[in-house]
Amino acid sequence: MKAKLTANKSFTIGEIDKRIYGSFVEHLGRCVYGGIYEPTHESANEDGFRVDVIELVKKLNVPIVRYPGGNFVSGYNWEDGTGDKSKRPRKVDLAWQTIETNQVGTDDFVKWADKVGSDVMMAVNLGTRGPKEALELIEYCNGTTDTHFANLRRKNGYDKPFGIKTWCLGNEMDGPWQTCGKSAEEYGRIAFETAKVMKWLDPTIELVACGSSNYNMETFGNWELTTLSYTYDKVDYISMHQYYDNAKNNTPDFLGRSVHLDAYIKSVAAICDTVKAIKHSNKTVNLSLDEWNIWYHSNGQKSEPWQIGPALLEDVYNFEDALLVGCILTTLHNNCDRVKMACMAQLVNVIAPIMTENGGAAWAQTIFYPLAYTSNEGRGVALKPVIECDSYETSDKFTVPFLSASLINNEEKREITVFAINRSLDSDMELDISLEGFDDVTLSERVELYHDDLKITNTKDSSPVYPESIAIDPDEKIILKKHSWNMLKFKY
Ligand code: AHR
Repeated sequence: MKAKLTANKSFTIGEIDKRIYGSFVEHLGRCVYGGIYEPTHESANEDGFRVDVIELVKKLNVPIVRYPGGNFVSGYNWEDGTGDKSKRPRKVDLAWQTIETNQVGTDDFVKWADKVGSDVMMAVNLGTRGPKEALELIEYCNGTTDTHFANLRRKNGYDKPFGIKTWCLGNEMDGPWQTCGKSAEEYGRIAFETAKVMKWLDPTIELVACGSSNYNMETFGNWELTTLSYTYDKVDYISMHQYYDNAKNNTPDFLGRSVHLDAYIKSVAAICDTVKAIKHSNKTVNLSLDEWNIWYHSNGQKSEPWQIGPALLEDVYNFEDALLVGCILTTLHNNCDRVKMACMAQLVNVIAPIMTENGGAAWAQTIFYPLAYTSNEGRGVALKPVIECDSYETSDKFTVPFLSASLINNEEKREITVFAINRSLDSDMELDISLEGFDDVTLSERVELYHDDLKITNTKDSSPVYPESIAIDPDEKIILKKHSWNMLKFKY
């Protein structure tokens, strides 16, 4: 199969916001307890955080991490997780039916995030709580005044404000599974009032309003329209969440899900712009895809209720999952004019690129690799890709080109990085890349992620899915193997 990819230096989509390589840590299953935090582990640092996990997270170069949930946040009292650990209360977490020991909380997480080089995207509880507690939390985190909550932070040992810039106004508030969910009107009103006072207290923050829990929600569209009609002037982003499965074992359909994501992104952007027009506003509300991943392998995983850090949502990812992650990342690049933040959900153990054993090893799942390469190398200006190749139709009538691709121009390094996935399950692809407007372009690096077996997984003992550097022969054509993820670097 042949494919052509053309880009022009002047035809840009926009600057990639590095926060599209964000992640998510929720108090859920073994993400925190047994994941990032395990004081009895041999690699634990003085704060109880696993250094083996910190090292893996650093390889992902994660610019921002959403915390502390997720569904968890809708029943969370942030005060429980601050101050003297021996005095922190044990509480029930209704969202995941577990016991929360509060041994990790705001202070600890900010410290951990600093260790891995990430900013924190903090979610406030708009389920069981409201504007008052959100205000108290923001004063605690960012306050500079001589007042109770800022002083409480100082008393707990943090003189310097945390300076958290990005805040989520609740989580999936339309979901019937949410602790104290809301109708669109109820959420629109409370989110407006909360946003208003949070910005009164700290005008430097940015706010993310809850969109629908996913595209398939019955209320999708109307929820965005209604809630934004309340919050538009006060918020900066609206959230999108989407998880994909291959439960029907239809790999072409599965690899085409990123085309579906592209349509979802464009729909939400259109709704934002509709509200903008109705309001005669000059302001643009952008998108935060602050939960995305593949989630189905662990369906049916059960644990007894009221455990501490039980195994929940522990998807073991295979090679085809890594391909879809690669396709999703090219889709984010190609929509970088609207998608400013995105968080792979989640970071460790729970639907995550990193797995751990309690008291044992930490390792990279298959999906770790496209994310790591894209996060480290995909920074700069996205160029518009013109893709000419054959396509196929999914069972739900999406037209999917066999080639998924994005191009990032990094002027400083004088390099263009191409991310390319050949979705074909049986044909290699001869790829002709034309980079217009650049002088003396030479291919300088090639990395490939390939395995013959789409269902193969990585384990703590072996990583059959592992990126390989490909030797470059300038006279040879570029061939992308069937069902492969690729990174190609061009110097100019
Ligand atoms: O990431 C797992 C869960 O998925 C989150 O808690 C929730 O927001 C979503 O439904």
